[in-house]
Amino acid sequence: MTAALAHAPTAQADPHPLLDVSGLAKWYGPHLGCRDVAFTLYPGEVMGVVGESGSGKTTLLGCLSGGLEPSAGRVTYHSERWGAVDIHALPEGRRRLLMRTEWGFVRQNPRDGLRMGVSAGANIGERPMAVGDRHYGRIRAQALDWLKQVEIDQTRLDDRPAQFSGGMQQRLQIARVLVNGPRLVFMDEPTGGLDVSVQARLLDLLRDLVARLGLAAVIVTHDLAVARLLAHRLMVMKDGRVVEEGLTDQVLDDPHHPYTQLLVSSVLQA
Ligand SMILES: Nc1ncnc2c1ncn2[C@@H]1O[C@H](COP(=O)(O)OP(=O)(O)OP(=O)(O)O)[C@@H](O)[C@H]1O
Ligand SMILES: [Mg+2]
Repeated sequence: MTAALAHAPTAQADPHPLLDVSGLAKWYGPHLGCRDVAFTLYPGEVMGVVGESGSGKTTLLGCLSGGLEPSAGRVTYHSERWGAVDIHALPEGRRRLLMRTEWGFVRQNPRDGLRMGVSAGANIGERPMAVGDRHYGRIRAQALDWLKQVEIDQTRLDDRPAQFSGGMQQRLQIARVLVNGPRLVFMDEPTGGLDVSVQARLLDLLRDLVARLGLAAVIVTHDLAVARLLAHRLMVMKDGRVVEEGLTDQVLDDPHHPYTQLLVSSVLQA
C-alpha cells in the first residue's frame, strides 16, 4: 500500500485551522459516549478515528458535525462565510446551510444518505438546487459529470438508487455529498458493509477524490487498512477516550499505547 497521503499538506499555507476541538465530552445519561477529546484539523488534512465497537467514534463524529449536543467542550469551525463559529451555538438554519455547502457527511449505510425515491441525477442535483441553482441543463450536466467522477455509467442518470448495487449506492452518495465542493467531509465507516473487492475500489476512489479536491476529512473506521490508506493522522479511541494520536504511519508502525499495539497486532495475525 502506498502512503501518498502521509504528509499533511497545508498547515503552513493556511494559518487558520478548519476545526478546533477542545474538552469535548458526551454522556448519554450515566453512560459515557466520549470524553476529553481535543484536536485541531487544518485545511486539506484527513484525520482517521479508529477503535473497537462502542469506543465512541460515531458519538464523536456526531458532536463534531453538530448533530449531537455535547455535554461539555467546544467545536470551533472556521467558516468561509462567517469566520470562526462555535458549531453548537450556531442557529440550526446556518448549520444546515453549512451541511449543504462547506460540509458533507457520508453515512455508513448509503440508504441513510440518499433519497431512495428519486433518481440518481436528482440525488446529485439536490444540493445545487438547495443553494439556488435553477438551471436544469446545468444541473443535469453537473450530475452527469459527477456520475463519471465516481465511476457510475452515465446512462444510469435517471435510475433510482434502489436499482444500484451497494458499492454504486455508496459512490452515488459520495457524488451527492461532494457536488457543492465542501471543504470538510465527515465519514462514518464509508466502506463498511461492502464486499472486500468493492471496498478496495471505493477506497481508491475516495483517496483520489480527497487528494484531488484537497478535502479535509474526519473518517471513522474500525479498519486499520482504511485508516492507513486515507488518513494523514490518527486518533485511537478506547472506552470513549483518545488513547493515542499521531501521524498515521507512526501510530501504526510504532504504536505506543498497549491498546494500539493490540489493535495493530490483531490485524497482523488476522
Ligand atoms: N443513544 C445512545 N444512548 C445511550 N448510549 C449510547 C447511545 N449512543 C451511543 N451510546 C453509547 O456510547 C458509547 C459509544 O458509542 P458509539 O456508537 O459512539 O461507538 P462507536 O465507536 O461508533 O461503535 P461502532 O464501531 O459499533 O459503531 C457506547 O458505549 C454506546 O453504548
Ligand atoms: Mg459507530
